[in-house]
Amino acid sequence: MITLGINAAFHDSSACLVRDGAVIAAAEEERFTRIKHGKRPLPFTVWELPYHAIDYCLEAAGAELADVDHVAYAYDPAPLLKNHAFPLTLPLEPASFTTKQHWTSPWEPLALAYVVNAERQLLDGAPHHIRKRFAGAKSSKHWQWHFVEHHLAHEASAFLAAPFGESAVMTLDGRGELATTSYGHFAGDRYQRIAQVQMPHSLGLLYEQVTDYLGFLHSSDEYKVMALASYGEPRYASQFRRLISISDGRYTVERPNLVELFGPSRQRGGELERKHFDIARSLQLVLEESAVALAEWLHRETGAENLAMAGGVALNCVMNARIRDAGHFKRVWVQPAAGDAGTALGAGLWTDWEARGRVRGWHMDHAYFGPEYSDDEIEAFLERGKLRYRRVRDVAGAAADILAHDKIVGWFQGRMEFGPRALGARSILASPLNADMQARLNEIKDREDFRPVAPVVLEEEAGRWFVGANVSPFMLFVHQVAPDKAARIPAVRHVDGTARIQTINRRQNERYYDLLKAFQARTGVPVLVNTSFNTRSEPVVCTPRDAVECFWTSPIDALVIGSFVIEK
Ligand SMILES: [Fe+2]
Repeated sequence: MITLGINAAFHDSSACLVRDGAVIAAAEEERFTRIKHGKRPLPFTVWELPYHAIDYCLEAAGAELADVDHVAYAYDPAPLLKNHAFPLTLPLEPASFTTKQHWTSPWEPLALAYVVNAERQLLDGAPHHIRKRFAGAKSSKHWQWHFVEHHLAHEASAFLAAPFGESAVMTLDGRGELATTSYGHFAGDRYQRIAQVQMPHSLGLLYEQVTDYLGFLHSSDEYKVMALASYGEPRYASQFRRLISISDGRYTVERPNLVELFGPSRQRGGELERKHFDIARSLQLVLEESAVALAEWLHRETGAENLAMAGGVALNCVMNARIRDAGHFKRVWVQPAAGDAGTALGAGLWTDWEARGRVRGWHMDHAYFGPEYSDDEIEAFLERGKLRYRRVRDVAGAAADILAHDKIVGWFQGRMEFGPRALGARSILASPLNADMQARLNEIKDREDFRPVAPVVLEEEAGRWFVGANVSPFMLFVHQVAPDKAARIPAVRHVDGTARIQTINRRQNERYYDLLKAFQARTGVPVLVNTSFNTRSEPVVCTPRDAVECFWTSPIDALVIGSFVIEK
């Protein structure tokens, strides 16, 4: 059975193909169109539709449109309709806030988007762009169309991908149709939605609002606020605490007037003052406290040992670490594509799971679901470009030699990652041994100098180099750098002593693992710096052409692409 999951509601449009319970392919549209987050900067925002991502997923699965059984669209207009018959109970919906009230404002952005996109969302039960795309398939076989609620797609992307047979589920994002937070409990062939918090109460939107206020781009730059927070003092925490009221899993968030609270907002690219660091720190602290309180309640409510999380807020790896360290759950797993791109995967998995009688035999232990290129294809491209390259037999060894000489490597290998983090398929790699590497990488990527760079470490060595670390393949949790190792890897130690680690084993990515082994053999250190293979405002590279362009237009020293090495 083939199910195609699609996210095309807001930003980060994407597609995912699920075959009999297993993800076969998944990719964000931005990687093909080279338009970051799929956002076209026209006078009004237009989001890209995932044409290329759909085509890629079908091709990767060796399937055609006629082979598709189900199409799962990760957005459901029904909850937005007045007097809708929503199938899920919402016992925690704050009584003071109803769907009806939601529709009274003509400026409600989703209501407006809904009207503008009415044809796209509803005509013939399918958005018209997708309908056109699938027209050819109708003659031989009629796929079945499913609207999957946005948060349900986030939830499924967590519990159907996590390595747990039973788990509590928590999703936090800016907003879906109405929901901003969902709680559930998954066990075997059962999923029970426990409760939701709905608009206008959203921890994610509060974080977005402060991101804007601090002069960054909301729905995109929240991780910069998180990085900024490490340099600040939480002297405004009480102001943020006053805005949030939590009672069990239910919460309300008052949207503040930040200018009244803290004075004029920071202009984009403007000077960063102490106040900005402190506001970020205060917000981050209060987010962490809130999320821990919600997780604690959810643990009491479900009695589950494990927690699976998704939603854009779950990309906040410092918050995730706080939830982990609070210790209510034995294990915490976060979907690597926790943002909206991951709803294509969640909607696909959910629809497939339902259609096949809720049988499950797959979990996600890597994120390499994107396009790959053979050596023949790469060499043909390099030849066409008349580029000087050498072919190497021991790719890991050749790259380790370059890295051990403190040079920076563009690393393009195998299938591209799904989700915002580069995990060793489309990465810029460097040695962590010298403290100045962070500044060099930030310069290459034209990033703000307060931003940390993250390490990848051999899975079996993780616990020796990072406190309490074991398996963490997706860079979604921070750990303290082990005190006796801190001096060896200064480049990856953030100002607060932590690092956002990726662990790697050989099963997940053979060549990447071998590279770390080879670097360890040369330096004694099983750690490299890993940052995404792109420069400012560019999506992560997808094709050999993207990689070569990025390499030649930035001060990266070498490109290791398939079995080929190009050095400047
Ligand atoms: Fe979302």
